[in-house]
Amino acid sequence: MPELPKKAALLEQSDEGTLHAALSILDSSIKCATTFQDQRKTSQRQTSVFERSSIFYGLQEPVIDDDSSTPILSACQIVLRRCGQQEPLPFNEVYSESLLPNCCKIGEGVYGEVFMYKCPKTHQPIVLKIIPIEGNQLVNGEPQKRYDEILQEIIISMELSGMRNNKDYATNGFVNVQRVLCVKGAYPLHLVDEWELYRDNRPEGSDNDHPEIFDHNQIYIVFELCNGGKDLEAFVFNNAAEAQSVFLQTALTLAVAERKFEFEHRDLHWGNILIAPTTNKSVEFRFDSKVVKLPTNGVKVTIIDYSLSRMVYDGAVLYDNLARDEELFQSTGDYQFDIYRLMRDRVENNFERYEPFTNLLWLHYIVDKLINGARYRYSKTKKHRSAVNELMQERDELLNFLSASDYVDSLEI
Ligand SMILES: Nc1ncnc2c1ncn2[C@@H]1O[C@H](COP(=O)(O)OP(=O)(O)O)[C@@H](O)[C@H]1O
Ligand SMILES: [Mg+2]
Repeated sequence: MPELPKKAALLEQSDEGTLHAALSILDSSIKCATTFQDQRKTSQRQTSVFERSSIFYGLQEPVIDDDSSTPILSACQIVLRRCGQQEPLPFNEVYSESLLPNCCKIGEGVYGEVFMYKCPKTHQPIVLKIIPIEGNQLVNGEPQKRYDEILQEIIISMELSGMRNNKDYATNGFVNVQRVLCVKGAYPLHLVDEWELYRDNRPEGSDNDHPEIFDHNQIYIVFELCNGGKDLEAFVFNNAAEAQSVFLQTALTLAVAERKFEFEHRDLHWGNILIAPTTNKSVEFRFDSKVVKLPTNGVKVTIIDYSLSRMVYDGAVLYDNLARDEELFQSTGDYQFDIYRLMRDRVENNFERYEPFTNLLWLHYIVDKLINGARYRYSKTKKHRSAVNELMQERDELLNFLSASDYVDSLEI
């Protein structure tokens, strides 16, 4: 990779503000970039890190703008810098069997596989979300994302994770990202074994393609995440007092991110809310510099999966242009699928637009799931019934608000 001038060298993996310089560079280079519009590869769903600059993400090499001599970074370079790398690392070496003790597959999605192992140093479980990118073959029936399409998820994950340390708007409700890496090569055999075990141990098997389809040229993005527990669909509550805390923690987390980043999650179904038992009595947020302490009632919420999310980062709108994904709006049979259509109506098919009512729509879906879908061990108790009644009241009133932060403002906490 050619040497980059000083300004670009500012970009290294760090907490807040990392991509600051990159996006400034991109912004100042729009004029030059338009020349290369035709060279960009397209895929079915196009993620926009903001419409104007995304057109030159397909370039392999940086281009020097004659006027200012500032470099335009390709999406590939920005991703690698976020990963703190010069080039993709060998998959087999970075994630060899000896480095991943007790590794097993724990989940899957259309875009990738999720494994968990115990870090030998800290003894903490680490979750690996592995997403193949840049290849031309379909994976699980979908085109692979390009660097420019995965960039949005990388930036959003890192920035939201970094909010645990923020002064004015703080939350630890978004999944804690330890590292993001870019690796290359065929799937390590021990991960293939675990993949097969997962498939063979489930009556329904796996919906995903066997990882043997990937050859030595395959590139992947790996998100290394802290374990957030079980998703809401799988979690078994003791009673609905726990569910009330789940609802409030989710609302507060969204509200804080709305204020800080104009964040909208846009896909907060019950597979994307994780719950873990906790012995901490309360969970702390900073909202408009005010400290808010919520009782956990014994459960801690972690929000994951920003593949459809929107936020503003350093003046640039990061979002996925869902208008191009007609399939997303066609499913029926669960309230989840209505939410995609309701979101589309609300943003009038312009997904760049900030419309935090979409967060409220998802909160409405979540409270509905907590009332009608979630599982409870002690559902006959008075405590449970009274908490369910309160949740029903929230459900009735929720859509009168404008956003998660508007709702949180109304709470006496
Ligand atoms: N940090 C995590 N802790 C525990 N489980 C996780 C974590 N991240 C993902 N998972 C599990 O993997 C599943 C898929 O991950 P997700 O990020 O939602 O991927 P996708 O974009 O494919 O839906 C989740 O529903 C969850 O069960
Ligand atoms: Mg998901």
